[in-house]
Amino acid sequence: MLFGTIAPVMESSPESRTIEAVSTVLIAAPVNLNWSQGGMTGGAVRESVKRLGDLKGIFRDEDAWGAMDPNTEVYRVRWWPAVPHGEEGGLFWGVTVLQPGKVGREYFMTHGHFHADRTRAEYYATAAGRGILVRMGTEWRTWGENMSPNTLHYIRGEHAHRVVNVGDDPLIFWACWGSDAGYDYETIRQNGFGASVMERDGAPAIVAHE
Ligand SMILES: [Fe+2]
Repeated sequence: MLFGTIAPVMESSPESRTIEAVSTVLIAAPVNLNWSQGGMTGGAVRESVKRLGDLKGIFRDEDAWGAMDPNTEVYRVRWWPAVPHGEEGGLFWGVTVLQPGKVGREYFMTHGHFHADRTRAEYYATAAGRGILVRMGTEWRTWGENMSPNTLHYIRGEHAHRVVNVGDDPLIFWACWGSDAGYDYETIRQNGFGASVMERDGAPAIVAHE
């Protein structure tokens, strides 16, 4: 959408000298957001979907995971790579829509990752739903932070991070991170987090792994 143009400006100096016309064009924003729904539209927006079948080995109860439909959508990420991936000093912007659900007693969650560059931090801002941001520092020290509409979380670059939906509705959160942060999924794939978010007596609980 083009917002419009400003007509050329003609100015006259006190000496009635005509100054060259200046034309200013307001350029349309390349991406538009729907904050509450997690919508991002525009030609530059990318999207990826993670289904249960893509998340092998993430959930504790492998039997329960294997019995579920692998096509079940767990989460969807939309993002704007405003600069090339890996460009130093740039920023990416995106949103995740994480569906409610459980595998056994464990709530649906994102894969979770460290940033490849441990100096690169990230913001998460929650728009809708109820969740837990699971963070992990050194030696698998793991803790959770409550996510609800309008909470803002600053994730230090050295912390692994994963989001868990503990509500009944989609959890929607916006993120801003460095284009040169990179992703280290492998450390999580091999060692996991130090705790899981499980349902206990009808409520979410963070259960440490022995
Ligand atoms: Fe991240």
